[in-house]
Amino acid sequence: MGTKAYSRPITLALLVTFAVAMTAAQTQAETGREGWLRYARIGQTGTASFQHERIKVYGPGESEVMRTARRELVHGLKEMLGPNWVHSGIVPGKFLLGSLQQMQWFHPPLGIEAEGFWLSLRKCEGQACVVIVGGSDRGVLYGVFEVLSKLARVENVRGLEETQNPANPIRWAEEWDNLDGSVERGYAGRSIFFDAGEVRRDLTRVSEYARLLASVGINGCNINNVNANPRTLQRDFLPQIARIADAMRPWGVRIGMSVDVSSPKTIGGLETFDPLDPKVAAWWQSKTDEIYKLIPDFAGFVVKADSEGRVGPSAYGRTPADAANVIARALKPHGGVILYRAFVYNHHLNWRDPKADRARAAYDIFHPLDGMFDDNVVVQIKYGPIDFQAREPVSPLLGGLEKTNEAIELQVTQEYTGQQRHLVYLAPMWTEVLNFDLSRADRRLDPREAECRFASEWCVKNLVAGKTFHRPLGGMVAVVNVGLDENWLAHPFAMANLYAFGRLAWSPELDAQRIFEEWSQLTFGNDPAILKVATRIAMASWRAYEDYTGPLGTQTLTDILGSHYGPGIESSEENGWGQWHRADHLGIGMDRSVASGTGFAGQYRPQLAQGYESLETTPIELLLFFHHVPYTYKRPYGKTVIQQIYDSHYQGANEVAMFVRDWRALKGKVDEQRYNEVLAKLEYQAGHAIVWRDAICNYFLKLSGIADEKGRAGHFPDRVEAETMQLRGYVPVEVTPWENASGGRAIECHDEHGCSVSFKFAKVAGRYEIDVEYFDQNNGESKFRLYLNGLLLDEWAGTANLPATNIGGDSSTRRRVHGVVLKPGDEIRIDGVPDGKEPAALDYLEIFSEPQ
Ligand code: GCU
Repeated sequence: MGTKAYSRPITLALLVTFAVAMTAAQTQAETGREGWLRYARIGQTGTASFQHERIKVYGPGESEVMRTARRELVHGLKEMLGPNWVHSGIVPGKFLLGSLQQMQWFHPPLGIEAEGFWLSLRKCEGQACVVIVGGSDRGVLYGVFEVLSKLARVENVRGLEETQNPANPIRWAEEWDNLDGSVERGYAGRSIFFDAGEVRRDLTRVSEYARLLASVGINGCNINNVNANPRTLQRDFLPQIARIADAMRPWGVRIGMSVDVSSPKTIGGLETFDPLDPKVAAWWQSKTDEIYKLIPDFAGFVVKADSEGRVGPSAYGRTPADAANVIARALKPHGGVILYRAFVYNHHLNWRDPKADRARAAYDIFHPLDGMFDDNVVVQIKYGPIDFQAREPVSPLLGGLEKTNEAIELQVTQEYTGQQRHLVYLAPMWTEVLNFDLSRADRRLDPREAECRFASEWCVKNLVAGKTFHRPLGGMVAVVNVGLDENWLAHPFAMANLYAFGRLAWSPELDAQRIFEEWSQLTFGNDPAILKVATRIAMASWRAYEDYTGPLGTQTLTDILGSHYGPGIESSEENGWGQWHRADHLGIGMDRSVASGTGFAGQYRPQLAQGYESLETTPIELLLFFHHVPYTYKRPYGKTVIQQIYDSHYQGANEVAMFVRDWRALKGKVDEQRYNEVLAKLEYQAGHAIVWRDAICNYFLKLSGIADEKGRAGHFPDRVEAETMQLRGYVPVEVTPWENASGGRAIECHDEHGCSVSFKFAKVAGRYEIDVEYFDQNNGESKFRLYLNGLLLDEWAGTANLPATNIGGDSSTRRRVHGVVLKPGDEIRIDGVPDGKEPAALDYLEIFSEPQ
């Protein structure tokens, strides 16, 4: 109990009677770099409770993690309680922290596990003190973060007495960073780890990231792309990797590395990488020993093999178990683990074969190997059988391994869910998956109602934690892909997904909304108005996204061959990637039944398999994942499939328009920087949701020939197509695919001096909103000017960073101008000046009447 630190005075009253306290500095600009660890100032509650007392923070201070814990506590208290944090008190108020062995004299309860902690409000020498006891130093650190979180959220801690243990031993963040500094499927800037083939000299952001991870209990970070570059394993490179481990170690975060199974051959000089060859085993052993010399707490390896062009054990007729075990045995003496990904499939499937099905692959390959993996192998399974779609059934493999450790793989980086340009809070999906009972068939198969009642052993959360089959290991990992962007994940709200992943990996029992509320309080402060709006938006966002992209289990209907971002309905068809929806003019959906389809439904346990087998009992959200149906199919009292497609897209797009309206109500409450950032992103999303809506609705209207009974699809009475206006310099072009531009056409300008387009307003006089749909590519910054009768109304440049080098669904963007007073005969004109390869392209104008 050597070291002490003295805090600013705090009263017990502050600890136990927190009323809603506002942060003083709330409307100052914030960059988001601190994430949810801002420790914003907690003001007084209006009572005289803010007396001068003294806090003693005790800690033995030997280990790095313990030092971190103490420092973080002092830092958090200082920040939250103010700059005059001086030792001047009369009555001591203490924080005591230590590991289980050090704190035995407090008689901690039984059952505090290695990474768990116990928090208790006690009397010490007659005064109140907060006792934080960890099962290990890491447990102490987690306990400190929990206390700080409670204080920041002004939670009532009267009678504080709680023990927490993590549910999952493995709680890893995985990053898909490449050595050149790019990040595969990363949407928030360049790698925090690597640049130009080296580890970055300055690893400040790495330490900061480790702090964020530790604060939600994440204990491992896999630092490089699963499409691994063997260079990371080379002798001269390993000391650089060790620097990353050093930067994360003070926060108790152990690093792991993705490895390429061909490394013994590609960098090891062997003529083979056959996992059963003793020379290969010896190579892995000596390479692993070399790593542990430099990084004694190295966590282990992640492997992607025989997948998407990566080589693997199949090259020698060996199995994933052979490949995993040879590496596992090298790690074993050091306590390391290998996470072997079940994302193994053939991407050259024959799309004409009605029995071919990518969804089957993981189960077909790994289920027969159950029991053949060593104990320090964990099979890492994506939550669905395809690939991080907005809606998929839960992967049957999660219930298909009884003698093998498993971990579920989630995705924080929003590859298929809007790439952090769209606000999509994913925890509602994740909790649905974690609470899914793979043995269930006792009631209507609605995944949204699914929950692990009676703590069924077939609940995903129990299976992955290793509880069901008493496995030594198990857990949850998420592909995160933070970048150098100041706020880590580009969209301020995207950090809620990282926060939620950590919280759920720690405790999958937690409720998605409650987690969001915690995050919102920590991120935006305790103002109930912010909490209410932010929570409403977040909780509606996943469903809205699903609605305006690909409902009924069609998967995301995005461009699967390229960006995975905008609409690309046909991109999934007629190729070997197997993300087929098989839409034709009569119907849509993949028949995955046993009776007539691919048999995928039969991979589930019998009752559930039966549920999915039948068209009537398959949950509506997954209907088209399991069955091919005519557009006119409907459930009793339900709507036809085609009408559901129309309705959900309009509903989803309308919902996002509401997000914009709701967020606007927070002006002046949220600091300006983050307020504006979120608003701009929501406005963009609202526009892009319309691009999605129209692409899907127009496409299926044409394909099915069945009208929208509400008359919306294909009818745009407020729209004026650019190609129908008077063009000066602009030229009409066809857009491919046609549904990604209104009317299938747009206009481009190829004159470097600029072009112009105009038309005469013909509706009744009034106040209007003018929406300009233009194309914002990433290979130029065209300029646009909007004029009314020759007077400039608005000007902007196409500067957004969208994944698009040409016009289409990825680049289509909306500029909105409010409050324009118009009368018949007014001339509306747009001047566009191209830049680089971007042709200042325009799709249409839409002019809506606004209330006077
Ligand atoms: C998706 C993603 C790839 C990634 C792969 C994986 O297919 O688009 O970029 O490599 O998943 O999880 O390995």
